[in-house]
Amino acid sequence: MFNLSFMRKHYLMAAIIGMVASASNSAAMAGVDEKALFDTHCGICHAMRPPATAAPPVLGIALHYHDAFRSRDEAVNHMVAFMQHPDPERSKLEPAAVKRFGLMPKMEIGTDDLRRLAGWLWDQYDPQFVSPGTCK
Ligand code: HEC
Repeated sequence: MFNLSFMRKHYLMAAIIGMVASASNSAAMAGVDEKALFDTHCGICHAMRPPATAAPPVLGIALHYHDAFRSRDEAVNHMVAFMQHPDPERSKLEPAAVKRFGLMPKMEIGTDDLRRLAGWLWDQYDPQFVSPGTCK
């Protein structure tokens, strides 16, 4: 009887330690992972800052999304919906952006990754950044 409860305790402890370790691991890797995801799926069209390549730079998008939304959650929801069903009517950029670059193609990647990318993009906002105004 003693042995059984001893083993149970140990098992429980090991399980808790394992959970804590994996939670802190994924938190520590979150930032790195998102930039890597961006480089893989988005970097081919989006540069981080001007000059623009095939699409508006990340800093410009973050600026427009901070103008359009108060909360990170709302902005993330909108970005994810846009990436799954791009629609010029729902663009939060200058209307000229879609004319200049064309509409973004639909992203065929998982919703979880899209949410992480959208949150990461929102967090890139830099209040010092001034749009070069080439999309008016
Ligand atoms: C094939 C090129 C291409 C790829 C790949 C691409 N984008 Fe875009 N993206 C565009 C273009 C062009 C625009 C500007 C026109 C528009 O808004 O549709 C844009 C606009 C956006 C916008 C602003 C949407 C709006 O108008 O409100 C967001 C947010 C965005 N991209 C995020 C991403 C993320 C995150 C990825 C990677 C998962 C990505 N894009 C991959 C071409 C691309």
